[in-house]
Amino acid sequence: MIGLFDSGCGGLTVLRAIRARAPQVDIVYFGDIRNAPYGSKSQKELERLTKNGIQVLQSFGAKDVVSACNSASTSFLEGATRGRFVEMTRPTARAMRLLAGARVLLLATEATVKSGIYNDALDPIVSLTPLPAALLASSIENGEDNAEISRIVSTLFDIVARKKFDAVLLACTHYPLVRDVIQNEVDARWGHIPVLDPADAVAEEVVERFPIAGGGKTTFYISKESAPFQRLVRRLFGARKYAVEVVS
Ligand code: DGL
Repeated sequence: MIGLFDSGCGGLTVLRAIRARAPQVDIVYFGDIRNAPYGSKSQKELERLTKNGIQVLQSFGAKDVVSACNSASTSFLEGATRGRFVEMTRPTARAMRLLAGARVLLLATEATVKSGIYNDALDPIVSLTPLPAALLASSIENGEDNAEISRIVSTLFDIVARKKFDAVLLACTHYPLVRDVIQNEVDARWGHIPVLDPADAVAEEVVERFPIAGGGKTTFYISKESAPFQRLVRRLFGARKYAVEVVS
């Protein structure tokens, strides 16, 4: 069984990409909403939360683990965990080779930007401008409307308005949930350039590296009740009824 881990609903974008490639695999998902957002936490706190998240997943039977969270990926890379795992940056770097030489705006949480993991992974391949986005992930997590998301994104883009880009990389798994809103803001600033979601690259690495077995069951656990999370599960995964259980 594969376990997926995020601070909340962002990892659902990775789950969706894995499901599209491996409908038969059994998946257990843990969204640590009680401790969200992760993006404003210190490296030390993230290591502790990552270890805890992995333990939760293992206690429900996960053998292989995906960090469907960029902010927690640092801890995976630092060896906070043993065993088989996939994190966000390496598969993304592999996919970004197609864009070699491009000027890329890296939209990510403060923790991800501060960690430098994307600079390490991408600097030799593309020219990266990191833009730390406070508030964006938590606003998505809380189910804010598109007008509010637009306002936040526009204010962020003001910071880099004078620069030129060939692509924007969504380096937080929450952001693809509002990809259309971000694309509109990007189009208004820089013309129609690609807004990239690394979920597909991560899902490809998952099906390459992990055993794909089971009956296609998905089980959701969250560490705090959340109506927006419940709504999103229904929106993304359709009519089938899923149990979303709260664990402490
Ligand atoms: N979705 C996560 C990420 O990819 C975490 C966002 C947050 O909780 O701040 O970084």
